[in-house]
Amino acid sequence: VRIEWDKEQAEKDGFAHYMQKEIYEQPRALRNTMTGRIDTTEQKVIFPTLQLSEASAKRVEKIYIVACGTAYHAGLIGKHVIERLAQIPVEVDVASEFRYRRPLFQPNTLTIAVSQSGETADTLAAMREAKRNGSAVLAITNVVGSSIARDADDVITTNAGPEIAVASTKAYTSQLIAFYLLGIYLAQAKGTLDADTRASLLQQLTALPDQVDHILQHADEIRHFAESIKDEQHLFFIGRGLDHAVSMEGSLKLKEISYIHSEAYAAGELKHGTLALIEEGTRVIALATQDELHEKMISNITEVKARGAKVLGITLDGHVELHRSVDDVCLIPQTDALFTSVLGVIPLQLISYYTSVALGNDVDRPRNLAKSVTVE
Ligand code: G6P
Repeated sequence: VRIEWDKEQAEKDGFAHYMQKEIYEQPRALRNTMTGRIDTTEQKVIFPTLQLSEASAKRVEKIYIVACGTAYHAGLIGKHVIERLAQIPVEVDVASEFRYRRPLFQPNTLTIAVSQSGETADTLAAMREAKRNGSAVLAITNVVGSSIARDADDVITTNAGPEIAVASTKAYTSQLIAFYLLGIYLAQAKGTLDADTRASLLQQLTALPDQVDHILQHADEIRHFAESIKDEQHLFFIGRGLDHAVSMEGSLKLKEISYIHSEAYAAGELKHGTLALIEEGTRVIALATQDELHEKMISNITEVKARGAKVLGITLDGHVELHRSVDDVCLIPQTDALFTSVLGVIPLQLISYYTSVALGNDVDRPRNLAKSVTVE
């Protein structure tokens, strides 16, 4: 008897694709990003190896975040989180644009480079530009010893484990955890968060891995939805605030591996143009996880429904009112408004995964794309 030994098959651990395996590895990846970084006695964030002490973090007055692709989308979330928690103004740039737009550097600027691989040429060039202008550089990366990690003054590793599939999943959610921790750390330095709020945030942060697991257990419902969109020519993702940033990631995922065109729109901006593209049967995926924007989202959903759109709503458990305004609903567990992105993106990852599978595409190796792009 000859036993066929397929190394790749073994590495996939019983999953059909690396992407599926990596989606399911997220609870563990998120726990690993948090490990050793939360002092449960003091209820605070600690970064034992970071050069940026709380005393020097206190002096930071401006932050630039530079990154590409999915890491850029994590940066958009990072901006919201840092601005809200630590009250430091943040600008996020696509790395390949940053160098050439002549950004204005002021003293006490911190530049954060986000990169799964740590080898992306555009990101490396952007951080070098920041350094040349006197900015300190902090890297958030998944690869210890990568070029970006070596070039930076400081590193926060995401510890998500190797990511093989071109479409990034666990690296993205781990980057979000890194930003949540960093946001709280900067808030500690700036004195912008009271102890009770901080303790409550940390408690909700540590609950996220189990909540992701809970969503993954309902993946089958999402598979049915994915199969229903596989023949669409184009669709829309809408959301406001943090949900808009998550929509952009959901749209990118779908484009990358299903090759279906989609657009992510700030829900309030639809009426200023894109509403013209909504017709009978147009599929819309609406993210509505932000309490303070809930009413506004419901009216945006009503606007597209009135033009014949068929809407999947992704919202928090308990938001009954939204259920009534959509055709299908996907519920995610309750958490702080700042943290819903980690949960909201899971159904979007699964939608893109199952759509790609339903179309018979090469899920892990989409056409024209590379996992790590080392040319500018
Ligand atoms: C490539 C990949 C994307 C990734 C981007 C940034 O384009 O196909 O999935 O988001 O690079 O990669 P990085 O390793 O810097 O996060």
